[in-house]
Amino acid sequence: MREINASIPFDKRLWKQDIAGSKAHVAMLAQQGIVSAADAAAITGGLNTIAGEYEAHGVPEDLALEDIHMVTESRLAALIGPAAGRLHTARSRNDQVATDFRLWVRDAIDQVEPALAALQRALVGRAGDHTDSVMPGFTHLQSAQPVTLGHHLMAYYEMIGRDRSRFADARTRMNRSPLGAAALAGTGFNIDRHATAAALDFAGPTDNSLDSVSDRDFALDYLMAATQCALHLSRLAEEFIIWASQPFGFVSLSDQWSTGSSIMPQKRNPDAAELVRGHSGRIAGCMVALSMTMKGLPLAYSKDMQDDKPPVFEAHDLLGLSIAAMTGMVESATFRTDRMRALAESGFATATDLADWLVREAGLPFREAHHLTGRVVKLAEDEGVKLNELALEKLQAIDPRITDDCFTLLGVDASVASRTSHGGTAPSEVRKRIAEARAAIGMG
Ligand code: ARG
Repeated sequence: MREINASIPFDKRLWKQDIAGSKAHVAMLAQQGIVSAADAAAITGGLNTIAGEYEAHGVPEDLALEDIHMVTESRLAALIGPAAGRLHTARSRNDQVATDFRLWVRDAIDQVEPALAALQRALVGRAGDHTDSVMPGFTHLQSAQPVTLGHHLMAYYEMIGRDRSRFADARTRMNRSPLGAAALAGTGFNIDRHATAAALDFAGPTDNSLDSVSDRDFALDYLMAATQCALHLSRLAEEFIIWASQPFGFVSLSDQWSTGSSIMPQKRNPDAAELVRGHSGRIAGCMVALSMTMKGLPLAYSKDMQDDKPPVFEAHDLLGLSIAAMTGMVESATFRTDRMRALAESGFATATDLADWLVREAGLPFREAHHLTGRVVKLAEDEGVKLNELALEKLQAIDPRITDDCFTLLGVDASVASRTSHGGTAPSEVRKRIAEARAAIGMG
């Protein structure tokens, strides 16, 4: 029973929030005349001492005391005597843990936020160096149309921006205090829930005591935002892994963020990127774990809910590492722009530009232009040349409306420069977006 019941091995991570919650609670109890000023002072002093002890030596893991709340309360009793027993007036561990955990998740978001901003700065910084670096853009991992590396990196800036807004939404939604909901029904003591909410920097108290102690939406909101963010990191990691492979050769990862092989001396393995990709699965697993814990629980508190913390802690640790690793990889990678350009030029990636030209200059319907261009690509393939290396006579044999004007468009730079629609890959467009991004994330 002791082993299955105890949560102290993991919920000791809540100790700071637990002490902050208790201090806010006891200050309010004194304010309301529910405990004497002298007892409140003794309790607050004792809690400060305990915080110092935890800081210096860690939280003692006494399984018999079950959880962080009981471990701290029992230490308080040892330090100040019977007055310690007054701290838990008008409170239950149910509203206590709900408060502590909200505070913890709120702090977690406040740590993720600047880390994601740093990743965005890394992406925008590298994008700015590569607004004109042409690379193949892919669909189905097949060379599709040329894009720029700057444009590609800025795609991840947008994703991380949405992640930040999801975390910010979650923070706003969770920022209400459950403290004072007591076990489930509220309390007959004349407490001031607005005061404790304000003391803990919540926007106000929650409005239904049953909901307050049974709600773990805030933890799930965090895990869902973390999962979405991890999926983005995983896609970027996957691209780095593919790009770093020899057949691609688009990037070489720094020594710092790769490892050698113990047997093959030529290897530089993208371990960090692979672990970011791997961790995303575990983070999604944490989100599913808590979803399954909560599904079907009747109101209000059930001990199942003690299992809410390990998945959140695990996801938070993995996400923090993943963001830091991706930031380091983005900052330190060497992009092989010559190789990117060579592949962009070799994959007939400007075929769409020829089809578009036939529509614009020769007035063909797009479907017919598409068909003709297919024949041109086939010819280039047979001859083993690039599109802009085909002889004009051969092109005109396919369709006499083709003139040598089209050749200027068949180069990758012209192709990229022409895509000036809002959000397009043209360097002019990408530079515009980078300028907006720099202003938005304080890069001056
Ligand atoms: N350790 C418990 C948890 O994390 C604290 C709440 C216990 N409440 C109770 N009524 N047993 O959920």
